[in-house]
Amino acid sequence: MRRKITVVGAGNVGATTAQRIAEKGYADVVLVDIVEGLPQGKALDMLQAGPIVGYDSGVVGTNGYEETAGSDIVVITSGVPRKPGMSRDDLVNTNMGIVKAVTEQVVKYSPDCIIITVTNPLDAMTQLAFKTSGFPKARVIGMAGVLDTARFRAFLAMELGVSVGDISAYVLGGHGDTMVPLTRLTTAGGIPIAQLLSQERIEAIVQRTRKGGEEIVSYLKTGSAFYAPSAAVAQMIDAIVLDKKQILPCAVYLEGEYGINGLFVGVPVKLGVRGIEEIIKIELTPEEQAALHRSADAVRELVQLMHI
Ligand code: APR
Repeated sequence: MRRKITVVGAGNVGATTAQRIAEKGYADVVLVDIVEGLPQGKALDMLQAGPIVGYDSGVVGTNGYEETAGSDIVVITSGVPRKPGMSRDDLVNTNMGIVKAVTEQVVKYSPDCIIITVTNPLDAMTQLAFKTSGFPKARVIGMAGVLDTARFRAFLAMELGVSVGDISAYVLGGHGDTMVPLTRLTTAGGIPIAQLLSQERIEAIVQRTRKGGEEIVSYLKTGSAFYAPSAAVAQMIDAIVLDKKQILPCAVYLEGEYGINGLFVGVPVKLGVRGIEEIIKIELTPEEQAALHRSADAVRELVQLMHI
């Protein structure tokens, strides 16, 4: 039987994610939004692309949750972006209400699904979905590390003039300015980047990666990134649906791993059909460990704002 994947939020990230999944052909897609007509219209448009692109995936748009029943995976992208003049606390409060209400519906109709969260602030919203759902930690995963790592890899490939496929890297920590690109373990064609680039250049690329989302917002002005974020979600879904056991950096609930307890923070995990099948532990230097803990502290601050 074909799998069923729901995407909540039919905006830029949600609709592009739905399109990418439909094009895989391995799952039917349900697109949900509160705006009347938006998910229906986009879903119908995607369905009609099937004969051209060559997929048979069903794509349905809805403002309710009945159609989502029995989903294997639910991606939550619903939320509002941070607008000028909006504080971080305002953003947390608004998106908290949305993610909580959405998660309750998701759980009601798809009690066995795997939830992938995308709404920002990512790590805090994933913690909220986890607490609200009551799901085991293997089935609530935040998408951030794959995106941050892709940005880092893309910038390094541009700098070195090599294929992005040759760059192997991990970005750990929270999805924000405090993220931790592990430069020591980053390689180009197996060669550590410290042998190929000056410390100064590496640091500049790390900084650009940290501000990767902002750079795009400053160009777009009225929205934020969605091509790379949706590609990141699609890679995680591939790993789950195809049971790839792929090691990807994701926001996961840590219970002592990396010295962090009771918090969602980005670390490498093994993704397969059961969701998070293993948390991979990398031996960190004291500096890297301290940077990861600083990043976790920033996440904890946001989580505390939610009083959950
Ligand atoms: N239920 C369903 N959909 C909702 C709800 C809700 N309660 N509240 C808002 N939405 C929908 C909006 O109607 C909109 O269509 O979520 C969609 C969000 O889409 P965009 O504004 O285009 O935002 P997008 O760029 O897709 O980003 C979504 O992902 O990367 C993060 O920071 C980003 O938090 C943001 C999220």
